[in-house]
Amino acid sequence: PDTSRPPLEYVKGVPLIKYFAEALGPLQSFRARPDDLLISTYPKSGTTWVSEILDMIYQNGDLEKCRRAPIFIRVPFLEFKVPGVPSGMETLKDTPAPRLLKTHLPLALVPQTLLDQKVKVIYVARNAKDVAVSFYHFYNMCKVHPDPGTWDNFLEMFMAGEVSYGPWHQHVKEWWELSRTHPLLYLFYEDMKENPKREIQKILKFLGRSLPEEIVDRIVQQTSFKEMKKNSMANYDSLPTEIMDQSISHFMRKGIAGDWKNTFTVAQNERFDADYAEKMAGCELNFRSEL
Ligand code: PPS
Repeated sequence: PDTSRPPLEYVKGVPLIKYFAEALGPLQSFRARPDDLLISTYPKSGTTWVSEILDMIYQNGDLEKCRRAPIFIRVPFLEFKVPGVPSGMETLKDTPAPRLLKTHLPLALVPQTLLDQKVKVIYVARNAKDVAVSFYHFYNMCKVHPDPGTWDNFLEMFMAGEVSYGPWHQHVKEWWELSRTHPLLYLFYEDMKENPKREIQKILKFLGRSLPEEIVDRIVQQTSFKEMKKNSMANYDSLPTEIMDQSISHFMRKGIAGDWKNTFTVAQNERFDADYAEKMAGCELNFRSEL
């Protein structure tokens, strides 16, 4: 294993990338505004996709404006901090209202100010198997993560919740529970793949906004996987290779539902299903793991 990579650090029981754990201190001084919009996800669930959609909505479909800066500048990532790149808190200083914000934090670590200010949340969830596969490739190329080892090894850690941001199961469930008491739109990656226009309409309704149909169509087209993959303001090309080495795996890797079938063995799938059934028992959320 590559031991030059920093191990995860546990904060309130949540395993985090070392640099992100360090960012939680400065994040204490963050003050939410009622007109903020928070994009919350477990990693690898469609964050960048919904972020681009939201920026396009906020810019009324103006493509040039959406090319003004990389996605992690346009949508500040609250707990983000890596060497040589502006942190989320630094980026926020230059972000005009109304702000789009991104986090992957579980509720235990979410700044209370966001809840107090009743900041609208858009949560995107993706089926656990595709998340695990996407996360594995991401761990390999994004070197602020520990070495993932073999796929089999990583899958065990994923099931045990011993990966960056902790267990997937708890994350999708607790943010779902939050929607009972907080303004939150809960979306699924698979629904976005199936019918992006329908999901964008849901977002517009939630925001209390409307856009002409041709602009909605343009947003659908410009936020397709194919377009975002070649858009240097969306594909994380601008991060230094010491942080993200896209010669190992692209950030915009495959962008499909059901890719887990190309990676899971039959034995791994059975083990995963049994563990999943136990951890998701009684949960009303329905995930589709293929389309
Ligand atoms: S991160 O690092 O947690 O913010 O990553 P996140 O953006 O949540 O997830 C990355 C995965 O989303 C895929 N992706 C897309 N799929 C469909 N359409 C669009 N436009 C799109 N943009 C990103 C990306 O390819 C990653 O999934 P995998 O399965 O690895 O391809």
